Amino acid sequence: MKSRDISRSIRITPRDRHFAFSDVQERDWLGGDTLKSLIFNALSMTFPAGERFFISSVKRFRPRISGEPLDSQVGAFMAQEAMHTREHVRYNQQMETQGCRAAMLQRETQERFEWAQHRYSDLEQLAATCALEHFTAILADELLCNPDLLKEARTEYRNIWLWHAIEEAEHKGVAFDVFQEVTNGRAYWVRVRTMTIVTVLFLAHMKRLFSVLLADAGRGGSAASWLRLNWLLWGNPGLFRKMMLKWAAYFRPGFHPWDRDNRARMRAAENALALELE
Ligand SMILES: [Fe+2]
Ligand SMILES: [Fe+2]
Repeated sequence: MKSRDISRSIRITPRDRHFAFSDVQERDWLGGDTLKSLIFNALSMTFPAGERFFISSVKRFRPRISGEPLDSQVGAFMAQEAMHTREHVRYNQQMETQGCRAAMLQRETQERFEWAQHRYSDLEQLAATCALEHFTAILADELLCNPDLLKEARTEYRNIWLWHAIEEAEHKGVAFDVFQEVTNGRAYWVRVRTMTIVTVLFLAHMKRLFSVLLADAGRGGSAASWLRLNWLLWGNPGLFRKMMLKWAAYFRPGFHPWDRDNRARMRAAENALALELE
C-alpha cells in the first residue's frame, strides 16, 4: 500500500482522557531519575503553545481542502491536539507545584510561536507545523518501538506519554497532506528550508528549557549533569540520536510521513494502554 493511501485510510480517533498527575508526589517520576524525567518534562513545556500553533496553522487552510477523507481527518487532528494541550497544561501545572518554573517556560515558548506568526507567511507556518509534526511523529515512534524507555515511569506519566504517542502517530500525515494539497506537491524547497530553520530553533529552545529545569532541580551549574543529560540524549539510550535517521528522511523529495508504516506498533500500544486504563 502506498504511503498516501495508508494516510487516507487512517481513522483518527480523539480519545478524551484525563490523567491524575496530582496522585504522583515525585517530581522525578521516571524511575526516580531527575535527568531522565527532566527530558520528558522539557518536551511537555513545549506542547501547549506548540499544539495551539499547529491547530491555527492547519485551520487557516481547511477551506482550501478539496474534501474527504482529509477534511474529517483535519477535524479529528484539531480535536486530538486540543486535548493534548489541555492535559499537558495540567501536567505542567503539576511540575510548577513541584518547584519547576513551568509557567515561565510555557510563556517563553508561547512568545517564540507568536514571533513566528508575525515573521512568517501562512504557508511557512503550515510548513513549520509539518516539520514539528515530523518531530512529534518520530519521537512517538521511538516510544512505541521502545516501551522500555518508560518502563520505570509512574503509571499516570507513562499513560499520558503513550496516549500522546499513539495519537501523534495516528495523525502524523494530516498537516503534511494539507501542505501537499494546497501546494500541489510543488513546495519542496519551502518544506525543507523550513525544517532546517525549525531544527535549529528547536534545539536552541530545548537547551534553554533544560538549563532552567536543571537549575530548578538544583543542578544548574553542574557540568556532570549536563554531560549525563547529553549522554542520555545522544549516547545511551540516545533518544535524539535514534531520531536522526528518521529526521533526515524528511529531506527526501518524495517523502511522506507514512513511508514508515507503524500501524502495528500503534495497535500494540493501544492494547497496552487499554489494559492500564481498565
Ligand atoms: Fe499532540
Ligand atoms: Fe500532532
